[in-house]
Amino acid sequence: MTVEFEILQLGHPQLRQPAKPVEAILDPAFQRQLDDLFGFVMEKGGMGIAAPQVGISQQFFIMSSHPNERYPYAPDVEPFAVINPTILEVSDGQSKDWEGCLSLPGIRGLVPRADEIAVRFYNRDGELRETRYQGFLARVFQHEFDHLQGTVFLDRVETTREVMMEQEWRCRVAAQLS
Ligand code: NI
Repeated sequence: MTVEFEILQLGHPQLRQPAKPVEAILDPAFQRQLDDLFGFVMEKGGMGIAAPQVGISQQFFIMSSHPNERYPYAPDVEPFAVINPTILEVSDGQSKDWEGCLSLPGIRGLVPRADEIAVRFYNRDGELRETRYQGFLARVFQHEFDHLQGTVFLDRVETTREVMMEQEWRCRVAAQLS
C-alpha cells in the first residue's frame, strides 16, 4: 500500500530551510521512510522528490528518471536514493531546459543548469558513491540538491518571461518535444 505524503507547497517556510544531514542511514525507521517515499514518487510519476518537500528536513532525495509524456528524452533509471550529497565539480557548460516541481504545481520555468557534475553521496546501503552525471540526470540531481538548501527552480530562472503556466507549456513546448 502506498503511503501518502503531504507535499509542501511554495510559501511553506519548511521548503526554504536548509536540511540537516542524515545521521543513521541503516536505521530501520529511516529505511522504512525511504521505502514509503519510493512508492510515493513512483505513483506520482515524478522524476524525483526531496525530503524537505514532504516536511522531512534531512539531506536526502530520490531520483526516479524515466521517459514520459512530459520528458520523452528522460533516461530510464531504476529509482535510487541520494543521501548527504555533495556536488564536487560543475562543468562550465550550462544549458537551459524546462523544469517543474511537485511543490510548485502548474508552473514551468526555463532553468540554466551545469551540463555535467561530479558528485559524492551515500546510497541507501550506507556506501559512499562518487560519480558523474550529464544532461537530464545532472539537471534532476541539481534540482533536488537545491531543495536540500531551501532553493526552488523558480529562484534560478533568469527572467519571469521564461516562466509558463503548465497548460500553456503543454501546448507550446511539450507538443514540440514529442
Ligand atoms: Ni522540485
